[in-house]
Amino acid sequence: MLEQQKVRLDSRLRRLRRTESIRRMLRETRLHPDMFVMPVFVLEGHGRLEEIEGMPGMHRYSIDEAVKHASRIADAGVRGVMLFGVPDTKDERGTGAYARGGLIPRAIAAVKRSNPELVVMADVCLCEYTSHGHCGVVSAGSVDNDATLPLLGKAAVEYARAGADVVAPSAMMDGQVLEIRTELDDAGLVDATVMGYSAKHASTFYKPFRNAAGSAPAFGDRRTYQMQPENRREAMREIARDVKEGADIVMVKPALAYLDVISEARRRFDLPLAAYSVSGEYSMIKAAAGSGWLDEKTAAMEVLTGIRRAGADIIITYFAEQAARWLEEGW
Ligand code: PBG
Repeated sequence: MLEQQKVRLDSRLRRLRRTESIRRMLRETRLHPDMFVMPVFVLEGHGRLEEIEGMPGMHRYSIDEAVKHASRIADAGVRGVMLFGVPDTKDERGTGAYARGGLIPRAIAAVKRSNPELVVMADVCLCEYTSHGHCGVVSAGSVDNDATLPLLGKAAVEYARAGADVVAPSAMMDGQVLEIRTELDDAGLVDATVMGYSAKHASTFYKPFRNAAGSAPAFGDRRTYQMQPENRREAMREIARDVKEGADIVMVKPALAYLDVISEARRRFDLPLAAYSVSGEYSMIKAAAGSGWLDEKTAAMEVLTGIRRAGADIIITYFAEQAARWLEEGW
């Protein structure tokens, strides 16, 4: 047919796909464990290791176990960890989040001591520590933005003092980055880096995390502070706000259903951009793979590649350790 039309095929694209070597040479997008961050759930106590329902292969660890886990993560070549506290007790004001010598500051110090080359990030939010499960203090049935800010600031200072390289406010309170930057600077912690969970959406894909952290809201939902998934322009406004407030790194979260948001953020902003591939994104692949419906490795790597191709510099993913090992095996 082509001959009949006398069309000269001067661009046979299949030439560039002919061998594995040519394909590897021409890969436009590459993954590297340097860009991975592994979330770690930390428990009180000693010698504790609990499986997380809905996230096969993921566990909560007491600090001593978390330290061993962090060493395995670092061994795999993963560059960073993000610590989340799962405290034994909670209260109305989320005191555990910002207590001096609290769970996360102790975990940060222990991980930093044993694995100084790991970039240690700490999530800054109240939801794991409040009895009602909201990300801020509740007054008259709603989450009080301005009353929450100083508590987030206090938490960030405690975490940075304990040695966290990066503090990452995820509460979606207006002004949280500015508050944290100001309090860090006032405390002399000028090198503590702030990564804003800038465009964090009210996503159904956080469900396994909330089970892992025991942080589901006891009433209502998070839609008065987290963004509605429909809004990309508003996501850009959130990121621009965080940039103005002094964020060093910005984030889009979740990742898989928000690749257009990642891509636009990449084009509009010059700051390092993180994407958080959240718990439900991990669970989906694990469940399908567990049923034999998907191949875990190729599915996970295709998704991570897509997030990278969309423009993320940093990928926070529960597959971090495993993906680093797959890369080492020559993915
Ligand atoms: C804390 C926080 C959440 C996640 C990260 N930080 C939960 C939430 O907002 O309900 C979700 C991460 C995940 O699902 O993997 N606010």
